[in-house]
Amino acid sequence: MNLSKLGQLLSGGSGIEQLMDDLGHALAASGSSPHMLGGGNPAHIPEMEKIWAGRMKEITDDPATLRRTLAIYDPPRGNPGVLEALASLLKSEYGWPVGPENIAVTPGGQTAFFFLFNLFGGRRPDGTPGKILFPLMPEYIGYANQALEPDMFTSLRPAIERTGSHSFKYHLDFSRLNPGPEVAAMCVSRPTNPSGNLIPDAEMQRLAEIAAQRGIPLIIDNAYGWPFPGIVFGDAKPIWTERTVHVMSLSKFGLPGTRTAFVVGPPEVAAAISSMMAVTGLANGNFGQAIAGPLIESGEVLRLSRDVIRPYYQRKRDAALEAVAEFFPDSLPYALHRSEGAMFLWIWIENSRRSSRELYETLKTRGVLVVPGEYFFFGEPSDEWRHRHECLRVSFAMGEDDVRAGLKIIGEEIAR
Ligand SMILES: Cc1ncc(COP(=O)(O)O)c(C=O)c1O
Repeated sequence: MNLSKLGQLLSGGSGIEQLMDDLGHALAASGSSPHMLGGGNPAHIPEMEKIWAGRMKEITDDPATLRRTLAIYDPPRGNPGVLEALASLLKSEYGWPVGPENIAVTPGGQTAFFFLFNLFGGRRPDGTPGKILFPLMPEYIGYANQALEPDMFTSLRPAIERTGSHSFKYHLDFSRLNPGPEVAAMCVSRPTNPSGNLIPDAEMQRLAEIAAQRGIPLIIDNAYGWPFPGIVFGDAKPIWTERTVHVMSLSKFGLPGTRTAFVVGPPEVAAAISSMMAVTGLANGNFGQAIAGPLIESGEVLRLSRDVIRPYYQRKRDAALEAVAEFFPDSLPYALHRSEGAMFLWIWIENSRRSSRELYETLKTRGVLVVPGEYFFFGEPSDEWRHRHECLRVSFAMGEDDVRAGLKIIGEEIAR
């Protein structure tokens, strides 16, 4: 099969794909059931599952809604009623000056980022290269292979603050953040996957000012943030400016199977995303919007995020932190990133003799599946920074017993 260059790029696989494959094989090969602390799947929260079942019944019980959901193409931009409802919610809750013209639906956040990165990044009409800058590494692994042109991504290391004997926090390093004309957009996830960092309001404000000065968009990935699912443990607020482009996904709200996300930004950006959607997919799937639409309209999404989802993950986070305190001897050279949101512990084993990849391999043989940290550092050609090879991402979304058992083994392995 003779593939085009682009074909080779898109079908050539990625580090994370290999890793997921490896995890799958490990799972199949392991006799006992392994402790799956690697994935990003949201937890199955009983109260939310009841709501999905109820909404499905309401949809199937009403022939008109069923027909609209199953048998009619939505416009490429999304269901007009749902766009209107989300705009009203963002206006009333945060005071953002947005209408349906600011919003476009995509099949999940992953597709939204693919569209956005390639909308802004890559060769420009005048022939100059446009880059996407990730100003705070480590960042979400899923971005790493999305560029349609080589060298489209660039990134900056963080400043590291030691916040305790076993804790630290990443900060934007403004002393090095000085995007040149080649930077076409910047992107952060907030809270951040993998570190659980929540970029403070003041840093966000400064980042937005830099974007405004340079006249470039600031893309903000709210996969774990506002307005849903609101898995935020720290104290901060979402930010809106004329140059921010938010991506809000229904996945971590509990509906990853519906593949639904919203891009909320300047009207030109929403229109461009809607056009890209028409070209690549004609229209979006209707199910996610049909299920969540009434919850967005009534504001129930906010209540569920605040009263059900966040406390659920916070309990899991607290249990995971307790397990670390119990199983990691104080003398171990480990540090956890301050857990301010999302569903992961980010463990730094400073000056570790084994790389995180080696540690991952050993943990796998002991039935504990995590993600080695190096995958979350991309956009920087140099591999020399030790820190890249000293971190592990551990999900705490799974069953508490699994998380405890897994962390006990991780503690033993770090101690070795
Ligand atoms: C930070 C972040 N952004 C985006 C995504 C993409 O999610 P989805 O395509 O399901 O919306 C994920 C998924 O895990 C994520 O963790």
